[in-house]
Amino acid sequence: MIKTSTSIQDAKNILEQGELVAIPTETVYGLAGNIYNESAISKIFETKKRPSYNPLIVHIDSIEKLDHIVSEVPEKARVLATTFWPGSLTLVLKKKDTIPDLITAGKNTVAVRVPNHPLTLALLKSLNFPLAAPSANPFGSISPTTANHVAAYFESTVKMVLDGGACANGIESTIIGFEEGEAILYRLGAISVEEIEAVIGPLKKLLKNDTAPQAPGMLSRHYAPHTKIILSHDLQSTVREYENKKIGIISFTKSVFPNPMMVVEVLSESGSLKEASKNLYAAMHRLDNLDLDIIIASYFPENELGNSINDRLSRATKTK
Ligand code: TXA
Ligand code: MG
Repeated sequence: MIKTSTSIQDAKNILEQGELVAIPTETVYGLAGNIYNESAISKIFETKKRPSYNPLIVHIDSIEKLDHIVSEVPEKARVLATTFWPGSLTLVLKKKDTIPDLITAGKNTVAVRVPNHPLTLALLKSLNFPLAAPSANPFGSISPTTANHVAAYFESTVKMVLDGGACANGIESTIIGFEEGEAILYRLGAISVEEIEAVIGPLKKLLKNDTAPQAPGMLSRHYAPHTKIILSHDLQSTVREYENKKIGIISFTKSVFPNPMMVVEVLSESGSLKEASKNLYAAMHRLDNLDLDIIIASYFPENELGNSINDRLSRATKTK
């Protein structure tokens, strides 16, 4: 039975025993374990049913700890870390020899970030090891943004979820790597490309590579509900094609004309992309629990976090 609690001390004890704790971050909940404990890291992969070629993100409590994890910090990486940490940016950098291969799936690089959640920052400060934490969901399913989402997934397989409330950003971190000194976008996420480019100039975008994923957040099917989901540029007309079906709608600001066969999730009444990102996964979880015939999501505006939302929605539409 999973325990939902706000006790940092309890979380610390469990992690020090080499067990896993689900932790809140400002993006999504993570399934955390001691990066230096091989059995804890193996448990992360087993519990999530995650393929071992998919490396994990290391979570540290401050930029000062970065030098314990990586061997080299390019100037642009240093600037990004200083600007955005604690926050929803993951940097992929050359790893130190002391970082276990299990964490990095044998790569010579490691993904690292300082999350921005008071409970998790306090927990990390209390530990003498960093935490590896992939999103706390079974591989390929919708990421969790509340302690309840985590409990529903891992009721019998995880000991504790540290309850930090609903995640403020609600979508995974943006991942940036460096190749030949150039900054490359590996995964769209909670910090927009526009915000990053405002700090370091143009980013190279490398987002589709299904066979040898740099960041398997890039595998086509990911973040997916059980219910079939499709994307539409025109909700009204797509809805008409599914007459007499039980439909779930995900729309940005405005709703379609509701009818009794339809459940509508409006992600931001006021038209804020930030608010919409925050609400996206919770809306997907709710709709996925309703036994609908189909979920129809509208395309979001192609700027700022609209691009990150479209990325997650379009991955959710893929059947394989
Ligand atoms: O917001 C987040 O990043 C959340 C919270 C819990 O921090 N974590 C998260 O982890 O989304 P996960 O495991 O679901 O996604 C980690 C992504 C994967 O797509 C993985 O392939 C990529 O990071 N990654 C990790 N190490 C990498 C490396 N060395 N090179 C390229 N990509 C890497
Ligand atoms: Mg994930």
